[in-house]
Amino acid sequence: MDKPLRIALTKGRLEKDTIGLLEKIGYDCTQVREKGRRLILPIGGANIEVVLAKANDVITYVEHGVCDMGVVGKDTIMEMQGKFFEMVDLGFGKCKFALATKKGSKFYGGYNVKTIATKYPNVTRNYFESKGMDVEIVKIEGSVELAPLLELSDAIVDIVETGTTLKENGLEVIEDVCPISARLIVNMASMKMRQSEIEAFVKLIEENIGG
Ligand code: PRP
Repeated sequence: MDKPLRIALTKGRLEKDTIGLLEKIGYDCTQVREKGRRLILPIGGANIEVVLAKANDVITYVEHGVCDMGVVGKDTIMEMQGKFFEMVDLGFGKCKFALATKKGSKFYGGYNVKTIATKYPNVTRNYFESKGMDVEIVKIEGSVELAPLLELSDAIVDIVETGTTLKENGLEVIEDVCPISARLIVNMASMKMRQSEIEAFVKLIEENIGG
């Protein structure tokens, strides 16, 4: 038998939905569900193994070809911009990138360059470049919502899912930047070398998403 097709899954929020999808296809994910601290796990009923990784690392592993495929959010894809095929919008992990400020504060207007705090400097740069607006970007690693509260920034660009974090911290969305959802990505060389297996897998995924 060929070596297993390797798929890197983003740990955390997307993990459960991805496993649910694999089980809907009919694969046995018992080992992934009972993984303990193991990071590489076989799937029953298919020649596939799952690698559990952080979102940015999913892209790194797929780009380098040590994983044939990956499941990762469009947010990470937009920020990292690697070389791979983005094959399927999986329809889960839905949220959006949004520009938010302190409630009632005026963002546009005035002559001073605005400061934007974000975990996603590339996404933010591209967004404001597309608007032809010069901004200063400050990279923050977690809880970006703090930056305008501490008056480090005029606004943030961040992921909004339910809107609860913004609301509970007195912030509000002033513009949606773009929608986000989980995507299936495929390494470019794997797509050539293992085309029929990957195409068959993609077909099963497409038949079982949604609903
Ligand atoms: C994300 C994001 C917001 C929050 C939004 O952070 O950065 O803080 O979720 O979700 P909500 O609209 O449903 O309140 P996450 O929880 O992923 O943690 P992180 O700061 O570790 O990225």
